[in-house]
Amino acid sequence: MFEVNALGYRLRFVDREAEVEVLRGWVERGSPVVEFVYGPEGCGKSTLLRYVAKTLSRGGSVVVYVDALERDPSRAVVGVDLPRGELVEIGRALGGPLGAALASGLSRLVEAIASRLRVSGRNLALLIDDPIKALGLERGDAYVKWLYEFIYKIPGEYGAGRVLALVTASEGLSRRMLSRHTYLHTSLIWNLPRQGFAELLEQLPQPGVGEEEAWLVTGGNPRALIDLALRYGWNVERWVRDLQYRLAEVVRRARLEGFERLLAEALEDPDALWYTGGAEKLAHLLEAENLVLYKHSPALAGAEISEDKSLGIGRYYAWQIPAYRDAIQRLLENN
Ligand SMILES: Nc1ncnc2c1ncn2[C@@H]1O[C@H](COP(=O)(O)OP(=O)(O)O)[C@@H](O)[C@H]1O
Ligand SMILES: [Mg+2]
Repeated sequence: MFEVNALGYRLRFVDREAEVEVLRGWVERGSPVVEFVYGPEGCGKSTLLRYVAKTLSRGGSVVVYVDALERDPSRAVVGVDLPRGELVEIGRALGGPLGAALASGLSRLVEAIASRLRVSGRNLALLIDDPIKALGLERGDAYVKWLYEFIYKIPGEYGAGRVLALVTASEGLSRRMLSRHTYLHTSLIWNLPRQGFAELLEQLPQPGVGEEEAWLVTGGNPRALIDLALRYGWNVERWVRDLQYRLAEVVRRARLEGFERLLAEALEDPDALWYTGGAEKLAHLLEAENLVLYKHSPALAGAEISEDKSLGIGRYYAWQIPAYRDAIQRLLENN
């Protein structure tokens, strides 16, 4: 069974059946372009990819998960059935943290893995988590282009069958940068749906708040839910107060740029950022700060993420976590 560890709580992997099915198809058929999956911070992208690398990597397919932000290759690489010692050795050969080594070193990493795993005749899927955060916008952009070209070299050089290259990001500027390219296909993943959220909630200590309230403040974001339960002991008030500290600077900047009214409107309806003339700059700021996400992209799971006013989800834009609106609302009121 695949479990996630949170502060000693062993959490069962919930939901995501539809996403796993889509990814299974991509692993089996390969993709002629780089697959780019983006979604809210903490919605479960890394967990999903680790799960996929653990469960789909066998028989005809090798699925390699690489955490671009992790320094220790024995933790950064999942789905590769190699002893820890060998992974450490591979990491040493790359010379340093994976992120820094990625742009120049991924081919060497794949080579090292391919030569030990015999990918010949098998499908190879490379799931590269958060490369833009690790490399920065410009190097990340160049890296994804390189990855695209690399897809076409793998079958010839390593004799692999179908090839999939997938990258992720949470933050809006990476999305803007990457989704302009024709060599890349963009999909959106969202926070957990209500049922999956309830299954995760069930595994956490007895809630001090009702399920409905927990849903309305976290919007089904698993990291927010776990944080609220384990760090804040279900004290929503204290959680939102901490968010206020984090967001005070953003609100100040929005104010100084003359966006106070528009920001208040976006709390009611995030699509105000879409429909209002001159809103582009505020949208940029909120996207860069990981607060709001452009959501007008095909969903990874196929079914469109529906608009939901109570959670701050519009047609074009959505708040990544509903509680951000409460914190910003208070900051605007307190002046
Ligand atoms: N499907 C899931 N089932 C159970 N727990 C999950 C699931 N998805 C995410 N989590 C929990 O939420 C946390 C945040 O998820 P993570 O994958 O790190 O998000 P992201 O990569 O999108 O920022 C994880 O540490 C994990 O504990
Ligand atoms: Mg992640």
